[in-house]
Amino acid sequence: MKKKTEMLTRNEHDERESAFEQLKIYGGRKLFGCVEVDASKNAFLPILAGCLLCEDEVCLKNYVNLSDLGNMRKILNVLNVSSSLSGKELYINPKKIENVKITHDLASLVRASIIVLGALLGRFRGGVIAYPGGCKIGSRPIDIHLKSFRALGVRVIERHGYIYCHGQNMKAGKVVLDFPSVGATESLMLCGCLLNGESVFLNVAKEPEIVDLQNFLNAMGADVSGAGTDCIVVRGVKKLHGGQFSVMPDRIVAGTYLLAAAICGGDVEVEKTFFRHNESLISFLRQSACKIDVFDDRIRLRADKRLSSIPKIQTLPYPSFPTDLQPQMMVLQAVSSGVSIIQENLFENRFGVVPELRKMGADIVIKDRTACVVGVEKLYGADVCASDLRAGAALVLAGLKAEGYTTISNVSYIDRGYERIEEKLSLLGADIKRGLFE
Ligand code: EPZ
Repeated sequence: MKKKTEMLTRNEHDERESAFEQLKIYGGRKLFGCVEVDASKNAFLPILAGCLLCEDEVCLKNYVNLSDLGNMRKILNVLNVSSSLSGKELYINPKKIENVKITHDLASLVRASIIVLGALLGRFRGGVIAYPGGCKIGSRPIDIHLKSFRALGVRVIERHGYIYCHGQNMKAGKVVLDFPSVGATESLMLCGCLLNGESVFLNVAKEPEIVDLQNFLNAMGADVSGAGTDCIVVRGVKKLHGGQFSVMPDRIVAGTYLLAAAICGGDVEVEKTFFRHNESLISFLRQSACKIDVFDDRIRLRADKRLSSIPKIQTLPYPSFPTDLQPQMMVLQAVSSGVSIIQENLFENRFGVVPELRKMGADIVIKDRTACVVGVEKLYGADVCASDLRAGAALVLAGLKAEGYTTISNVSYIDRGYERIEEKLSLLGADIKRGLFE
């Protein structure tokens, strides 16, 4: 009998290995050079679900090797929608799609699996899926998704950990979201594309990823308008064809590298990114006395001294400061000169990085959804553990700044949203390695 490990596929082997891998950083170096931003995880995921609405092959031209995208491809695969990679081009073949139940082992891999349900309703008027997964940054309810489906005439039954949707009586119509949920907005867009008639969705999310999904759907023959505003109109069409599409750059990854440069000091150019996607962050960084030059598709940041704290930061839906950059921004405030009050308004459990930052010497006190961060002169390297994707990215930034060695465990969280983060940061002069260091 072959050893179990020999029988794993390369991907499974990688994932299992990554589960135990660590990042080891020797901090204190300034960062210099250019770093390119890859495609956006949070745009790619709903677009992959959108491929389920297409009748012909789709080519997404700028794939990025993230475990969340790999897991979403596994979900498509179980629906008999194959995907194959040629260089960075991902070819998705939805021609033989089958509407099968998506079980817990797959649905729980990613939060975006709930958006697949929207696509199945759009394509087949029905679907069954287990509850979605996602980072443990809050309860992550799906009530707004389900209420929206019901508003379009879908019969939704939740039982034994599964969501059963019967959409035989689905009709185009008006839906007003209780909250501008990104995922629920995306689900509705996918639901409405092939529905007969015009649907109007109000109080929707305005994130750039919503605009990218609209651009993708329209490139495949849909008729969607209004993305980026609080009202989206979807006029149903008979079918969506295939085609090619390039996904927008990842604004959160871009913001993470800009914060790395602000925290470490130096001169870094972040390329293939649109500054308008990060206006709120750029405004805060300029307030902290960073020198920032913006161009069409790149941003240059220079910082050569300890930055001043930003007195109040709160996370809100786009275009306000994004929750996905909150842990990384907290690291900058932890080493700035002054006091910063950070309020996390989107998720009830998104301060997971704080206990680990305290181990490194940060002075942070939490009360409910508010963190009070008193800037310290120095952080000290320590053995720390990532609790979720963005907390893991924040620990990398803290390790780059800290004196001495920092070892970060649970690197698989970071790999959900950053492709080989250690290689990109090494190119900027960081001393960071991946391996098993215990
Ligand atoms: C998307 O999650 C992103 N994930 C998240 O990024 C991001 O933090 C979030 O939007 C907010 O911008 C993907 O796009 C895959 P929401 P999503 O629905 O769609 C509540 C990362 O690090 N809510 O806009 O799940 C919810 O609890 C990830 O890349 C309900 O109450 O976010 C939260 O408080 C983390 N009921 C708020 O709305 C619902 O049915 C925003 O959630 C849905 C959401």
